[in-house]
Amino acid sequence: MEGIRSHIVLVGFMGSGKSTIGRLLAGALEIDFVDVDNYIEAQENRSIKDIFLHEGESEFRKMETVALKTILSREGLSVIATGGGAPCFNNNMKLIVDSSVSIYLKVGKVRLVERLKNDNQRPLLQNKNETELLSYVKNILQEREQFYRRSTFTLRAIDPPEVLIRRIMKNLTKTNR
Ligand code: S3P
Repeated sequence: MEGIRSHIVLVGFMGSGKSTIGRLLAGALEIDFVDVDNYIEAQENRSIKDIFLHEGESEFRKMETVALKTILSREGLSVIATGGGAPCFNNNMKLIVDSSVSIYLKVGKVRLVERLKNDNQRPLLQNKNETELLSYVKNILQEREQFYRRSTFTLRAIDPPEVLIRRIMKNLTKTNR
């Protein structure tokens, strides 16, 4: 596809498919794919789980902002998958809106819980039964949507990846950035 002039940043809740869709989209556009969490893990040489455990969430949020700024200021264009909390801290969403085409992958809370209930890697989800997880997702999603909604466009992200990629490509053509 011709005419992409900005990075493309995927935002959305944990489990919304940012990494899966991001990788496929980057392949379709023939540009790089960067997952901010993986980038931090490589820089730190340890897992996000370990960073949360030993440094706490606020240190992780600092690392996340630095990583996002570094990736967004690179010259070559990339599709960038952010962590679910990234747009909601340190004014990161303004940075994303100002320097990229952003896409909110929107998935409802019940489906998110289905996807997340057996997760044993994401530090914010540990030690919760299904009822607790549902109420956590409901509350945090409500808080975070005000940030996600500032994206260039929102995609209802429950269809199969190939369908979503086609829809994104169409939207990108219209967006002209
Ligand atoms: C987080 C989401 C995670 C990761 C960290 C915190 C969040 O990324 O950045 O565990 O605050 O929602 P994914 O959205 O890729 O799971």
